[in-house]
Amino acid sequence: MSDASNTNLNPNEPPLTDHSYDGIQEYDNPMPGWWVWLFVGTVIFSGVYWLYFETGVEGRSIFDEYGRYQANIMTVKFGEIGELSADSATIAKYMRDPKWLAVGKATYNANCVSCHGIDGGGGIGPNLTDDNWKGVRHLDDIAKIIKNGAANGAMPAWGSRFNHPNVVVLTSAYVASLRGTKPANPKAPEGAVAEPWPAAEAGSQPDNSESTEPAPSATSDKVIAP
Ligand code: HEC
Repeated sequence: MSDASNTNLNPNEPPLTDHSYDGIQEYDNPMPGWWVWLFVGTVIFSGVYWLYFETGVEGRSIFDEYGRYQANIMTVKFGEIGELSADSATIAKYMRDPKWLAVGKATYNANCVSCHGIDGGGGIGPNLTDDNWKGVRHLDDIAKIIKNGAANGAMPAWGSRFNHPNVVVLTSAYVASLRGTKPANPKAPEGAVAEPWPAAEAGSQPDNSESTEPAPSATSDKVIAP
């Protein structure tokens, strides 16, 4: 064919550049200026964006923002019960409260299933449904282990990862409620038999818990909200 040249025989087509690849010639047809500057602008913007959001300054990343929203939601949600203390009586009480147990169950399903199994039967972590416990002797030890972890981090510490301290208590209540259930593939028991969980203390806190021993007065019957 014809030699590579930057003259184009057809006047209706753009001029050609003076190089060719494998005999294919290239039009000298640059991107419009507005497009090039838009592109340059996005490149500069990405640098500024990265510096602002991704260089580890506390409170700026979308994860921090998400955490703040979650914390607000939790505070609103927990407004009804206030801040729970992580003692055995409180855990025993919420262990029998299906409404709040749902929070513990959701937390468990989101964070714990990979090591303890969907039904608590165990895996990397111990079986949470049998009577044997490695580090738990009393009900409140469950909350301590969830909060602080165990075995040098083999069981991670969750205290600082949850957005509200109540989550530790309600997750402990859910874990405690698994005791005595029948998982599909139970891991062999580990550790020693722990004492039975205490019964909920009647009337220990003024809200919607079911009293184990109803008072004789007819007006004391409380209704559990769904
Ligand atoms: C990375 C795996 C892993 C994850 C995720 C994990 N655990 Fe564990 N967990 C373990 C291991 C391993 C142990 C045993 C620690 C030991 O040897 O004392 C354990 C122990 C426990 C114990 C004490 C059991 C006992 O027999 O003393 C409880 C309660 C517990 N985990 C609850 C949870 C909860 C609730 C979550 C989710 C919020 C969770 N774990 C997430 C690995 C995990």
